[in-house]
Amino acid sequence: MIVEEEAQKRILDSIHLPGHVAWPDIDIQSSLKWWHKAVLYQVYLRSFADANDDGVGDIAGLISRLPYIKELGVDAVWISPWYASPMLDGGYDVRDYVDTDPLFGSLEDVQDLIDASHQLGLRVVLDFVANHCSSQHPWFQSALSSPEGSREREWFYFKDGQGEGGDEPPNDWKSIFGGPAWTRTLNHDDTPGQWFFHLFDSSQPDLNWKNEEVLVQFDEILRYWFNRGVDGCRLDAVSAIGKDDDYRDMGFAPDHLYRPDIWGPVPFYDAEGVHDVLRRWRRVAREYPTEKFLVGEVVVRDVDRLARYLRRDELQSTLSFDLSKIVWNADAFRQMINTLHGACFEGHSWMTWTLSSHDEKRTVSRYSQDGPAEGVLGDVTPTGHGRARAAYLLALALPGSACIYQGEELGLWEVMDIHEDRLQDPIYFRTGKQELGRDGCRVPLPWEKEGPTLGFSARHETWLPQPQSWADVSVATQLNDASSTLHFFRSVLAWRSTIFNNDEWAITWEPSPTGVLVLRRGPDFRCVVNFSGEPFCVGDDEEVLASSSPLTHERVVDVNNGAWLRARRFAAHQRL
Ligand code: GLC
Repeated sequence: MIVEEEAQKRILDSIHLPGHVAWPDIDIQSSLKWWHKAVLYQVYLRSFADANDDGVGDIAGLISRLPYIKELGVDAVWISPWYASPMLDGGYDVRDYVDTDPLFGSLEDVQDLIDASHQLGLRVVLDFVANHCSSQHPWFQSALSSPEGSREREWFYFKDGQGEGGDEPPNDWKSIFGGPAWTRTLNHDDTPGQWFFHLFDSSQPDLNWKNEEVLVQFDEILRYWFNRGVDGCRLDAVSAIGKDDDYRDMGFAPDHLYRPDIWGPVPFYDAEGVHDVLRRWRRVAREYPTEKFLVGEVVVRDVDRLARYLRRDELQSTLSFDLSKIVWNADAFRQMINTLHGACFEGHSWMTWTLSSHDEKRTVSRYSQDGPAEGVLGDVTPTGHGRARAAYLLALALPGSACIYQGEELGLWEVMDIHEDRLQDPIYFRTGKQELGRDGCRVPLPWEKEGPTLGFSARHETWLPQPQSWADVSVATQLNDASSTLHFFRSVLAWRSTIFNNDEWAITWEPSPTGVLVLRRGPDFRCVVNFSGEPFCVGDDEEVLASSSPLTHERVVDVNNGAWLRARRFAAHQRL
């Protein structure tokens, strides 16, 4: 069964939306691009590997560990921002788009990283942060020192406040990180001035993407990095860059936390203007002999809105975190997969499947719970580990690319007991400490079984503390254990790179008992994930390529487990 035919048709119709510029037919090629099947490995630089021993990960540390990434069997690295930054949001607050923060190294180090990755056959995907810059960026500093209504202020959203003396914000809009989305400025003479808009932290003023100067500037920034050899960009918070000129109140109460999961139609998010910008960036991506890859962090309210980002002359792919938001339930997974897949257009846009990131709670912790994984999570359980592996079997069996966040291949869990003095995420502070924020999934990786930082750094303390229990799940420990999560990932990725016919677009769900998902891809491959309360038996005519844990009697996929199966008549290296 090809899923959601109706939804697919509806979305295809939307290609002809007014204002849409049809891309020349040259884009409708049968040949696959590298990203159509690629597995990206997400490196959160601060927490990957530290070479200069300051307790924070850096570019040289990453270069030294590139062979590890290569051996995992991925095709590309997406690296969190390395730009010069005050680091108030871990580098997503950019002070200089064409320089590297000394915390991470130098521009030469970045060039070495790009070159070394290419030598190993790994593509490099830059984190492109365009919705906002740092309040310390010269653009914003110059806007602050320029008069109201000046050309410099037009780069951002400056507004007068309401009420007597303009003491009230221009409206009731909220920041995604909690608290108001407007911060007041000070005039030269220290009197209160205008307010500026920031969807995230107050250190991250939103840029005005209707301003031609902003557009031109970012075209050049894209070219700068493409010319240095990066193969593509992950477009940070990209659905936020379009805004309508509509400054009405949204009805948010003062204590209302504006959360991504309730994003509705608001004038400052997912507005039509974003699509013009994406078309422009796509043209830049196509200036290169090998087209550059644009994958957007797109969080929108429904599949129709999502599909608009994937039109032929916009993004080639989106990273969707919807899969990482759902509870452990067969119907929820099937529906979400159908929905996301239904937003793509066969032949030119593909989903980048992902279960985790530096913004999400770790997979094994989420799946150790039976309900929604919010707030403070409980202990990690073997069930959580089994489910996480099974969920990866499913995600990696889908057509399209996939992304694995560092440490997921080790089965790392969310660190819930970081002392409050060490927490750094602005979400923790902006929510009045009501939300722990994202530090728990950003704890530095354990490389070795021993040592104060488990091989992350020669220093005695890392920027976020590691649990000592991570010695048991370190890379070194897992390399010596054939049943480890690391070996599981290596083997699954090795199979993935050889067995699939990547032209295969359809998702087919076979009839199965309630709570068991059986995904078929091609005539001879099946992925089974057992969300039910009963074991599920597979046929004798199939060999088990990979499984989240060994199958009982070699035929039974236990509850909370999954397996990749292939019809026996195929030789080991034959494609399906
Ligand atoms: C994206 C990033 C997140 C960052 C935010 C603001 O969602 O993934 O880490 O805080 O954008 O740049």
